[in-house]
This record gives sequence, structure tokens and C-alpha cells, in this order.
Amino acid sequence: MQNAALAELGLGEEWRYEAIDVAPEEFEARLRAMPAEGFVGANVTVPHKTTAFALADVASEGAGRIGAANTLVFAAGQIQAHNTDAGGLIAALPRSPRGARALVLGAGGAARAAVWALRTEGAIVDIWNRTGARAEQIDIELTGSIQVQDSFEIELNGVRIQVEGGAVTEFDQNDYELIVNTTAVGLHGEDPFVELPLRRAGFDERVVVADMVYGEGPSTLLQAAAAAGAGVVDGLEILVQQGALSLRIWTNREPPLDVMRAAARA
Ligand code: ATR
Repeated sequence: MQNAALAELGLGEEWRYEAIDVAPEEFEARLRAMPAEGFVGANVTVPHKTTAFALADVASEGAGRIGAANTLVFAAGQIQAHNTDAGGLIAALPRSPRGARALVLGAGGAARAAVWALRTEGAIVDIWNRTGARAEQIDIELTGSIQVQDSFEIELNGVRIQVEGGAVTEFDQNDYELIVNTTAVGLHGEDPFVELPLRRAGFDERVVVADMVYGEGPSTLLQAAAAAGAGVVDGLEILVQQGALSLRIWTNREPPLDVMRAAARA
């Protein structure tokens, strides 16, 4: 995807994107050697995102709040940390989540990026996780000092009450305009309607469902959402969008999204 984009931008001769496998204990040494080898930056994936952030000299606000980096820039003798997982999710959505009630399923690194991104865009975000304590923990850590619209008013029997977004254990999936699955459910064939508190027949056409899990074809979760006429965003589109944001950071050029999409889906 990145090499196809570099070729499209006419940078294919000068620039190259390559995969490097590295064990956690070798990560720091590998990273520190890269600037001298001519690398201008790197994408970092699981399990190195937290370490990458910790090793950086400076960080974007998002990377700082999320506590993880998926994109690094080597410049002026420094390592800069960015997190394009957050912006990639927002860019993949069919419309702005501002003011929307959103449910994020999961409480790992992908959930942290999603919750931070959605709250920063002005969504009211609830978090559900199989291990409820982890959902509470990320809710508290991420609410911190950023400005969030994590609160809304509803009218109940003529009385206006204030409701806050936060960790939830039970919910009605119809209460949300956006549902984002960041759990690993579906990655190895798990049934989302068994593992997650969602009903297969419980979607309607007003909701948008995003699933970070991707593989061959749409996930079981997205198939059910699409069958109900709901909007769907697949993990590959989120991957393309985060890749495009990283490419823009490194090259300062407008990423050719269609070329990246075609390469990612090939
Ligand atoms: P990442 O950093 O990639 O998001 P992670 O930290 O390993 O990954 O988190 C995986 C997420 O998937 C967690 O929210 C995990 O729930 P727990 O915190 O309860 O472990 C969730 N998950 C994985 N398998 C699951 C399953 N079968 N049912 C429900 N949630 C699951």
C-alpha cells in the first residue's frame, strides 16, 4: 500500500517502505539505528506501540494522550511520535461523529485510540469491555484533561437530566449512532453475537458500525449490520486511512487514497 502510493507520487525511486520484524528486546536498538540508515520514519505495530511512544523525544497530543505511537518521524536528531490510528478511524467514518452517541467495544490499545479520537471530535463515548475494569480504567485515563463533550442532556418525564458517557456494563445497542469494535472478536472466527453483547437483529439503518477486525471479505459483524441497512466501515478502510495520514506526515504530500485502497485490497 505505501510503496504503491510512493510510486503514484513519483517518489518510488527515492523512497521505499519495508517491513521489519523485530523482537521486543531488540526494538530500541533497531529503532535507534534507523536514522543513520536513511530512514525518515516508521510505522510501528503491536506489540511495540507503547514502547515506541516511550522512546520518542517529542509526541503529538494524540500520541501523548493515547500513550502509544504507530508513526514515528526521525528528524533533527529526534524521534517524534504520532498516532494516526486515531485520525484514521475518524477519516474512515462516513460522517463526522460530532455530537453522536458512540459505543466502543474493547479496552486495548486500539480502543484507547478510538475513544480518544471520538471524544476529541465531540462524540459522547461509552466503553464496554469483557473485563469491565479495563473499560473503567481507560475511561478515567483518557478523560483526563482533554476537552470532551462527554456529557449530554435527556428529557425524562419532563425533567432534563445530565447523562455522562463512560464505561458501561449493560446497554441497548439502539441507543448508539456509532458502534466501533476494537476487540479481537472475529479475528479467529469467533462469533461476535456470542462474544459481544450485541444482537444480530438489533441494528437499524441509522447506525454506523465500524469493525477494526479485517480479513477476507466483510466480518460477521459487518455483514449483519449491512443486512439491516446500517452503515459499515471495515478494518481495511481504517488501515488505509491511518496509512495515508502517516504517508502525509513523512512526505508532506497528499496521499493517493484510491491507489492505497486498491493495493490494500489486492
Ligand atoms: P489491542 O491493543 O490490539 O486493542 P489487546 O490489548 O490485546 O489488543 O485487547 C484485545 C481486546 O479484545 C480486549 O478488549 C479484550 O478484552 P479483555 O480486556 O476482556 O481481554 C478483547 N477480547 C479479546 N477476545 C475477546 C472475546 N472472545 N470476547 C470479548 N472480548 C475479547
